[in-house]
Amino acid sequence: MNTRSLGFVERLRIAVLLMGVGIGAIQVPSLAQKPTAYASFKPGAVWLADDGLPIDCHGGNIIYIDSLKTFYWYGEHRGEPRGAACYSSKDLYNWKNEGVVLKKGAIDVFERPKVIYDATRHRYVMWFHYDGNRYTVAELGVAISDKPTGPFVVQHHSRPNGHESRDIGLFMDPETQKAYIGYAADHVNRTIRMVELSGDYLSTTAQDTDIEAHCEGPGILKQNGVYYLLTSGCSGWTPNPATYYTASSLMGPYTSQGNPFIGDVGNNSFNSQPCYIFKIPGYKNAYLYMGDRWNGGGHADSQYVFLPITITPAGKMELHWYAEWNLNLFTPEKTAR
Ligand code: DGJ
Repeated sequence: MNTRSLGFVERLRIAVLLMGVGIGAIQVPSLAQKPTAYASFKPGAVWLADDGLPIDCHGGNIIYIDSLKTFYWYGEHRGEPRGAACYSSKDLYNWKNEGVVLKKGAIDVFERPKVIYDATRHRYVMWFHYDGNRYTVAELGVAISDKPTGPFVVQHHSRPNGHESRDIGLFMDPETQKAYIGYAADHVNRTIRMVELSGDYLSTTAQDTDIEAHCEGPGILKQNGVYYLLTSGCSGWTPNPATYYTASSLMGPYTSQGNPFIGDVGNNSFNSQPCYIFKIPGYKNAYLYMGDRWNGGGHADSQYVFLPITITPAGKMELHWYAEWNLNLFTPEKTAR
């Protein structure tokens, strides 16, 4: 090897490696290792994990595990190996790569994984879009793990009550602990249906209704007894204007309320597609919009658009653009009046 063509750091690393031969125990940090020290969200910017690489965790969701005081972010790992990625964080800005927690293996299309924690059975349940490479299988899959960082093991996959299912949103009602999946249904994602999950969260029930919302990327929040459903239109990997709906029951009926993205000059949800709404614990009415900036394809380094969601005093959902923002925008629960 001609080491003269290498940079100083690389030559130093090789020297340390060579010295390590024989003494065996020297740990050489990967050159990619570069802990992050973010103190804000920068929607659409390149976002690195602790390994120095762009976070590869698309179409997913975030959960907070109180006993571990840790956030876990799950999503599609679109680099190799394909499957579900998991990242962990203490502050929502800085993320540690926990690896691929479910390898998709022979599954052709594995998209939009969503995880909930079953506190009764102490296990993590992941639902996901299971499909063939022409998106005609259109099923829901479910996997479980005893640990947040996997491995998750696939239990089964099928169409809920016989309906096609593609994009999914998962919502656990904080008051009842019942969980629901909103799924883009029927050919091709003509509508969204809502299905209630069984008490152990491992199967769908017959409580399954067409809520006549349109049509992909569903995210749900609940405030003051009102359910808000945010959806994208249906245009592949190209962003489009979003719509939100409200209902007093999760199973509907829902009323269309229009586009909540304010000042969105591109009319494309600030160049993003919704994937989840995360209620940030510890802050009053603090909702995090999680969106993917696919850039025309499901790329491993596609960016994320994370923005605060506001419910106005009149009950309207609004998203405003911030080039940079942090959690100080919200009111901490303890001082909230
Ligand atoms: C839009 C969906 O929201 C994505 O999850 C993905 O399925 C693409 N369509 C595929 O074209």
